[in-house]
Amino acid sequence: MDILTAIFTRRSVRRFTPEPIAESDLETLLRAGMQAPSADNGQPWYFVVINDREIMDSIPKIHPWSEMMREAALGILVCGRIAEGEMGEYWQQDCAAATENILLTAHGIGLGAVWLGICPDKKRMADFSALVGLPGDVQPFCLIALGHPAHAYQASNRFDPARIHYNHW
Ligand SMILES: Cc1cc2nc3c(=O)[nH]c(=O)nc-3n(C[C@H](O)[C@H](O)[C@H](O)COP(=O)(O)O)c2cc1C
Repeated sequence: MDILTAIFTRRSVRRFTPEPIAESDLETLLRAGMQAPSADNGQPWYFVVINDREIMDSIPKIHPWSEMMREAALGILVCGRIAEGEMGEYWQQDCAAATENILLTAHGIGLGAVWLGICPDKKRMADFSALVGLPGDVQPFCLIALGHPAHAYQASNRFDPARIHYNHW
């Protein structure tokens, strides 16, 4: 799929078939995440692949909008290491760029995915840190639920010229 088609037809997918995700596809997704731009090329991201069914089934207890994890083939917990200094403050933006790369790649290779927000909700961050045993200097940013889509989905046109200004508001 070409890049513009991927961008303009991606949607969140929340229903999945039982088909597992091939190892090669998982590697493609993780490579895409690590290919993202980051502040000062700091690449602060870490990815925890969650494919243990018991852990996946427990996630709705700590995240109110994550029922689809019971059906997902796996989840990728996108995490960031908080570096010392000014660039450390950009870790959330870096992780967001990695997340979007993974979402677009999933769509591009025929998988379905949805971004589940964790940061900046302090309780959710603490709960996910405990769930996977993150070290103290690594924070969870979001969870991406992934699998083979169980339904067709429609592109949505969100272009709004009123949101664009040139040179001055
Ligand atoms: C920061 C962020 C947090 C989100 N959290 C959730 C979530 O917890 N559960 C969920 O089902 N979808 C979540 N979404 C997905 C949005 O609901 C979805 O992207 C939005 O409705 C637009 O639909 P689309 O992705 O199909 O274009 C989140 C998206 C973002 C960017």
